[in-house]
Amino acid sequence: MTARAQVRGVGHYLPDRVVPNAAFEDTLDTTDEWIRSRTGIERRHFAAEGQTTSDLATRAARAALEDAGLEAADLDAIVLATSTADLTFPSAATMVQANLGMERGFAFDVQAVCAGFVYALTNANALILSGQAQRVLVIGAETFSRIMDWTDRGTCVLFGDGAGALILERAEGDGTAADRGILATDLHSDGRHRDILYVDGGVATQTTGHLRMQGKEVFRHAVEKLAATAHTALDRAGLGPEDVDWIVPHQANLRIIKATASRMGVPMDKVVVTVQDHGNTSAASIPLALSVGVARGQISRGDLVVTEAIGGGLAWGAVVLRW
Ligand SMILES: CC(C)(COP(=O)(O)OP(=O)(O)OC[C@H]1O[C@@H](n2cnc3c(N)ncnc32)[C@H](O)[C@@H]1OP(=O)(O)O)[C@@H](O)C(=O)NCCC(=O)NCCS
Repeated sequence: MTARAQVRGVGHYLPDRVVPNAAFEDTLDTTDEWIRSRTGIERRHFAAEGQTTSDLATRAARAALEDAGLEAADLDAIVLATSTADLTFPSAATMVQANLGMERGFAFDVQAVCAGFVYALTNANALILSGQAQRVLVIGAETFSRIMDWTDRGTCVLFGDGAGALILERAEGDGTAADRGILATDLHSDGRHRDILYVDGGVATQTTGHLRMQGKEVFRHAVEKLAATAHTALDRAGLGPEDVDWIVPHQANLRIIKATASRMGVPMDKVVVTVQDHGNTSAASIPLALSVGVARGQISRGDLVVTEAIGGGLAWGAVVLRW
């Protein structure tokens, strides 16, 4: 018997306010047509004034708990991927812990920007396999609208706010690729590329700062690195592209999603795409897409799912799991 971290529940939350591309035409030299054709994005959700990342995360967590038929008291840990925590500290994860009324266990944030959820899943998997936790709530939640420079058309039209959550639970498998649960993971970072995607504020500047990006450079790295990490994770699981039921990629740009699927040798009808409705929600994009993919009837129990993401750092990675 082999321990596996299996998905027990999934859920998401999107703020009510939906902003279509055309809304940017009033204040920026841009068009709905440019944004759609270069990115695939049509609209995004923005948090209401005063609504924080931990608020969004708590809503997604409640939805995942309900889906799993569990209470907060049944959880051992919360791992929350975010780069937009409410405060410098404490972690947004401990805020969610309090909001859920969870009085035991432990909670912490993971900061790997858009790769955050892949990092969080990998960490939660390790906690479960090491026996540290039986059930882990893994959340990706962001309010990137708080770190946009609204005068920079090259970035502010790309991002959105939202949250998604999964509950992972320890179960026994046979140790084969037919097991449900996380089958393989692959993580990377390369800090030499810090200047192509970063926020120019933080403790060092005593400001929150704004997101800065060299879009073309990020695009180039994304297309090259995402397919490679997905292949490595599949290899580790003893599987190949032909075994994939769904790619659930980080939702940054439809052109990156298509190029990665093509390099992986997986057709687009096996890719869950939500970028048109959510924009890039950074660490929230994969759990949002997983939850929407299940709600649409695309992902079902037993399906082989590959998630892959890249973001600031650069940090990137992939997780192969059987749903
Ligand atoms: C940002 C991105 C969409 C830009 O698309 P692109 O085809 O590379 O476009 P470029 O950056 O070369 O810019 C081309 C022109 O469009 C302009 N442009 C940029 N944003 C624009 C906008 N919203 N509307 C209209 N024009 C815009 C640029 O200013 C540039 O004009 P110029 O040629 O006069 O200088 C693309 O680079 C991208 O998606 N990169 C990856 C970003 C990403 O996903 N980051 C997150 C990863 S986690």
